[in-house]
Formats: sequence, structure tokens, C-alpha cells
Amino acid sequence: MSFKKNTLPQHIGIIMDGNGRWATRRGLQRLIGHKEGVEAIKRTINIAKEFDIKILTFFAFSTENWKRDKSEIDGIFQIIRDYTNQNVEDLCKEGVKIVSMGDLSKIPTDLNKKLQEIIKKTQKNNQIVVNLAVNYGARDELAFAFNNLAKQGKTEIKVEDITKNLYTKNLPDPDLIIRTGGEQRLSNFMLFQSAYAELYFTKVFWPSFDKKHFKKALKEYQKRDRRFGGNHKKTKV
Ligand code: IPE
Ligand code: IPE
Ligand code: MG
Repeated sequence: MSFKKNTLPQHIGIIMDGNGRWATRRGLQRLIGHKEGVEAIKRTINIAKEFDIKILTFFAFSTENWKRDKSEIDGIFQIIRDYTNQNVEDLCKEGVKIVSMGDLSKIPTDLNKKLQEIIKKTQKNNQIVVNLAVNYGARDELAFAFNNLAKQGKTEIKVEDITKNLYTKNLPDPDLIIRTGGEQRLSNFMLFQSAYAELYFTKVFWPSFDKKHFKKALKEYQKRDRRFGGNHKKTKV
């Protein structure tokens, strides 16, 4: 299978869904599914690097996920904590630059500190950007941006003003959004930034997502005709 480089996405957003179902179908606790989900994240970063994808955004915890049982929420934060603790060296060696998006003021203070640390430690890396969406919701992000603009005293708001005040102000829009787990919705993920993203849904549960699934998504992306509102390309009939 060949991939023409110029037709690969630069930024991929991933809605990692299906951890719970992956686990319960195996008679395991949901948290085991979240743990396996971290393995899928590591795997995906390595595959993305092979294809020279520049930015991966992973939806790790949404503003709506607070509705879950406290034990699952605490477990998810512990898994993110372990991931940031145990992988700093590897991420540095592999040239991964970690950034984040979401309201980190509401997550456990020590985890917020850990994330800030890893962001600082990896800031000079330049192989790939990994954006972790933690306590992220697109509506919350828009409210954050508009509040910033209000504080700046803006009364006439341009699209660029909004873009510059989103959590993603330093990142280009995602070209491709992949959602695993079978649902076909965005669940409050990057609503503003994905205005022209290509959407790809797969039934595969996130912990099972591997290289062949990733390549399938890229292949599908390459078939899409991204027009951004322009004319159809002339096609043979
Ligand atoms: C996605 O997996 C991870 C998070 C939302 C944190 P889920 O936990 O939503 O898994 P399912 O959808 O219940 O299978
Ligand atoms: C989306 O998955 C959020 C994350 C992947 C972090 P959910 O499982 O929370 O989404 P819904 O509830 O099925 O829409
Ligand atoms: Mg889910």
C-alpha cells in the first residue's frame, strides 16, 4: 500500500471511544479498558511518526465525563498520571512534544502540575505534537474564548479573534477526525476547529485500534475530495 505524502493529514483528532465495552466484553473491569487505551495511544504515536503525521490530538476526558462514577473518574485520572510519570523519558527520546487542551483547573492539582511539567520538559521536541484533551469540551472552550475576548474589551468579534483565543490557538485545524467504538457523533469534540475536517468512524474499540486500522483510516482520507466549499474537481464519467 503506498501513501502519497502530500495527501496525508497534518493533524488528526482522535475520539478514543470503546474502552469500557472492550473491557466488559472480556469480563474485565472498565478501568482495564482505559489502561489498554494508553497502550493504543503509545502505539498510535509511533505509527503516526512513521507516516510523518505532525499533530495528534487525543480526546482523553470530556467535560461531560464527570457524569460517570467517581471510581471510574479517579481511575482515569490515575491512568493519565501514570502515563505522564512513566513515559517522560521515552517521549523525550522519541521527540514527542506534549501539549494539552481543556480546563485543567478542575482536575486534581497534582495531575495538573504533572501535565505542566511534561509539557515543559518536552517543549523543544519537534518530531510530533501530541495534544492531550483533558477535561475538554468544545462548548466550554468557546465560552473560554468569548470570556477572554470580553476581558480584552472586544465588541466586534472576527472569526480570527475566536481562533486566537481557543485552546488550540497554536495548532492548525484537524484534517481528519477518527472516532473508534462505533458511535457516529462528535460528543463535543473540536466543534469549531473541525468545520472542514474529514470524519472517519470505525466500529473497532479504541484498545484494539492498531496499525492496520490506522492505515485504513489514512487510505479512506486519501479518497476524499476536500473542497472547502469550492468547485468539484473535474472527474471522468
Ligand atoms: C472512551 O471509552 C474513554 C473515555 C470516555 C474516558 P469509554 O469509557 O467511553 O468506553 P465505552 O464507550 O463505554 O465503551
Ligand atoms: C467521548 O466519548 C469522549 C472521549 C472519548 C473522552 P464518550 O463515551 O464520553 O461519548 P458519548 O457519551 O458516547 O457521546
Ligand atoms: Mg464511550
